[in-house]
Amino acid sequence: MAELSGRKIVLGVTGGVAAYKAAELVRLLGKAGAEVHVVLTEGGARFVTAVTFQALSGNPVWTDLWDPRMANNMAHIDLSRDADAILIAPATADVMARLAQGRADDLLTTLCLARDCPLLVAPAMNRQMWEHPATRRNAVQLAADGVTLFGPAAGEQACGEVGLGRMLEPEDLCEALIGFFQPKLLAGRRVVMTAGPTFEAIDPVRGITNSSSGKMAYALARACAQAGADVALVSGPVALPVPAGVARISVRSALQMRDAVFAALPGADVFIGVAAVADYRPDTSAEHKIKKSGAALQISLTPNPDILAEVAARADAPFCVGFAAESRNLDEYAEGKRRAKKLPLVVGNLVQDGLGSDDNQVVLYDEAGRHPLERAPKPEVARAIVAHLAGLLPPLS
Ligand code: C5P
Repeated sequence: MAELSGRKIVLGVTGGVAAYKAAELVRLLGKAGAEVHVVLTEGGARFVTAVTFQALSGNPVWTDLWDPRMANNMAHIDLSRDADAILIAPATADVMARLAQGRADDLLTTLCLARDCPLLVAPAMNRQMWEHPATRRNAVQLAADGVTLFGPAAGEQACGEVGLGRMLEPEDLCEALIGFFQPKLLAGRRVVMTAGPTFEAIDPVRGITNSSSGKMAYALARACAQAGADVALVSGPVALPVPAGVARISVRSALQMRDAVFAALPGADVFIGVAAVADYRPDTSAEHKIKKSGAALQISLTPNPDILAEVAARADAPFCVGFAAESRNLDEYAEGKRRAKKLPLVVGNLVQDGLGSDDNQVVLYDEAGRHPLERAPKPEVARAIVAHLAGLLPPLS
């Protein structure tokens, strides 16, 4: 999915051992649709050669302020002229110090000084270098100058030590960059969501569940986080990675899901029920595996609570969004659900259009009527839902 298509990124690679990961980063950015132009510092070129970056980016690599390939000899201005961002990954303690001082003693720092696009920096250094008061000072100065820091992460370091200073992984940097470009429509908002199926145990190995991949909910949680929200995702059992900036609370049954939702709810501005909650649960769950006997087996079922309806019925209810997955009569059923559960917004889709797949086609139902969205990959649909939802929220108090 080309979530960075149309974006021009200047990637600065400085002299840290994490430079080898910058090669993978170039590949991922390219796969996400970005046009990548690599600027290697002298130190960076000691770790990975320009040839690697040229092959992966498909563009010439720049190292020298005085490069005669640039027709007007203005590499420091031309390279970042129409760039959407300069990303430095890895960024050494040294380049951070030079940036904090506004120095322009090589092509990369000169570019940074002459830019009018955002500067994003992914530090990578030994734990003690990161913790040194000079680096702390430089990080604070860079933030004050409007530079965005991605990471660093904590963990094992090339020097054998363990601590803060590892560069974020290429996948995480790519995600951070995609998130950086999203409008912050939900800044200052707290969102609680449910996701996935629930599993209602019959015995220790069997249960009743719904088919739900969780893909739409996770895409929506990611879109909310990228729009600046603080997101708590109460999730039934699914095998999906937790999106960056999202706090997942894992549950299994509908009752556990309800408890976790109510625990997370205080202070929430928005509640989005995406989970395919099982409508019924067995009256009792057998302690031991029920043995096959050949005779008929009756399982008596009790209705589960409707989590969304309970949240929406509260006097202090946040803005509530429901999902309606139907196999027919979408308009009638989705709008009916919206009214029955007293929801300001319902996202409806035909199961044959979205269940388990990477694309989805949805229709939004609110007080103003019916708003069909175009069929698109789930992350794109999620962004469109966030944009619509953000427009319906009361102003931040
Ligand atoms: O199952 P139903 O079609 O009524 O689901 C509509 C909406 O209600 C969905 O947003 C779903 O997450 C939510 N729901 C719930 N608790 C239930 C059943 C549904 O929160 N027990």
